[in-house]
Amino acid sequence: MTAKELVFSGVQPTGNLHLGNYLGAIVNFVKLQDTHDCIYCVVDLHAITMWQDPAELTKATREVAAAFIAAGIDPRTHIVFNQSQVSAHAELAWVFNCVARLGWLNRMTQFKEKAGKDRENASVGLYAYPSLMAADILVYRATHVPVGEDQKQHLELTRDIAQKFNNDFGDQIRAQGVDSGLFFPMPEPLITGPATRVMSLRDGTKKMSKSDPSDYSRINLSDDADAIAQKVRKAKTDPEPLPSEEKGLETRPEADNLVGIYAALSGRAKADVLREFGGGQFSNFKSSLVDLAVDKLGPIGAEMKRLTADPGYVDGVLSDGAARARVLADATVNAVKDIVGFVRAK
Ligand code: AMP
Ligand code: TRP
Repeated sequence: MTAKELVFSGVQPTGNLHLGNYLGAIVNFVKLQDTHDCIYCVVDLHAITMWQDPAELTKATREVAAAFIAAGIDPRTHIVFNQSQVSAHAELAWVFNCVARLGWLNRMTQFKEKAGKDRENASVGLYAYPSLMAADILVYRATHVPVGEDQKQHLELTRDIAQKFNNDFGDQIRAQGVDSGLFFPMPEPLITGPATRVMSLRDGTKKMSKSDPSDYSRINLSDDADAIAQKVRKAKTDPEPLPSEEKGLETRPEADNLVGIYAALSGRAKADVLREFGGGQFSNFKSSLVDLAVDKLGPIGAEMKRLTADPGYVDGVLSDGAARARVLADATVNAVKDIVGFVRAK
């Protein structure tokens, strides 16, 4: 691996990988392989910040790995693994828990959303989640992080942690031969494409999410053609025909979402999609969307099924990826131990 530009991202194995995960994140993971060294992680330590049934967690971990591979990530050229196999993530996260300030974590909107009203009953892990995420990224000194829009705030916190660590330990970092004092880089989020925030098919003001109780709110990567067709046909719309220009979508969240999904799946701009379908009825547009979605997602779902039927293969990919990740991550943690002043065997 060349050290200069490195991509890292993670997806939680919490069930129901959906079109939002695919368009907001995984599609970009696939593209970046051509230009960068990439590390893609199934973040099981993050998953257990909320209760997970152990058998389901195992299954979902293999399913996310299978989705990565089925979508076109090459685990030989790049690295695919699950977080808990590389203990350096948890070790660095502890150091970061001591760098991050309570005030910073108190501002995290994802914690507020996930903890809900009963905050006293949320796990300590859910609260500390962003410092583990910072450790995931910085343990590889990754420079670019492809994510959906909802992770922007966590990336800002990651930069704050990197900066404070660099400042707090500037002398020790320079003593290690890093003249710039920038032991950790400031990682940049890559939030790109027409679908950085895919919305629920039932409510255009709510994010498409793994945890929505209605399965009709999302298209799962494991859905077959019939399920995709039914969900798109039942997707909420309004009575107006589609507009011919993008500004006509501004007050129509459901229409905007479906056009965005079409654009992202076909690799076209929204304006271009509206030039084709503007003025026409929703039913025609929806039929084309079903064909497109089945065409793009069908093969991925089928390949995921084939891969998850062979857990031995998937587990092999994960342990091989973990072995390669460990070498990189341990080097960073050892350097951090020296910087912080921990005694260790050399
Ligand atoms: P998660 O399932 O929370 O681990 O998310 C995995 C990746 O998918 C992250 O980069 C998220 O930002 C992205 N993501 C999740 N939901 C959506 C959505 N509705 N639209 C776009 N991206 C999403
Ligand atoms: N928090 C991310 C999510 O919920 C998952 C994640 C964990 C992640 N660690 C990461 C994403 C590091 C990017 C980089 O979607």
